[in-house]
Amino acid sequence: MVSDRTPFSPQPALVKEDKPESASSRQPVQFYLGPYNEGAIEKPDSLAKVTGPCGDTMEISLRVEGNKIIESRFQVNGCAVSRACASIAAALAKGKELEEAWDIDEGQIAAKLQSIPEDHRHCPVLARDTLRQAIEKYIKQSRCKR
Ligand code: FES
Repeated sequence: MVSDRTPFSPQPALVKEDKPESASSRQPVQFYLGPYNEGAIEKPDSLAKVTGPCGDTMEISLRVEGNKIIESRFQVNGCAVSRACASIAAALAKGKELEEAWDIDEGQIAAKLQSIPEDHRHCPVLARDTLRQAIEKYIKQSRCKR
């Protein structure tokens, strides 16, 4: 299943009697309940699949044009936090130059969730590593084609 929503598109109400809240306070919940960019890119320019020490597996696929990531999607076999972190990493990478996307770190990913349970601190690290591996693979493949 592929979702085309972005973190910046209007947020649907989470429940019918949604209390008035700011969009930013609902955004972390959205990453858990309805992750953005979930799914796989058909014939991606690069794809990385990484299993963390906890056993969760994350996959990030990229479509790249020139030096820019124009599409980024994820799939996770794991916990809700890793799913949210993969969603954030994919959303942050979209539209960025490869070098800029490489600089996305676990702190930036975690900041979007506001708080992460102590025993899930490695989830944003797994998202960072998966995104970086996808970028690295793309760069290596591009060099081999020259
Ligand atoms: Fe391992 Fe979330 S519990 S990545």
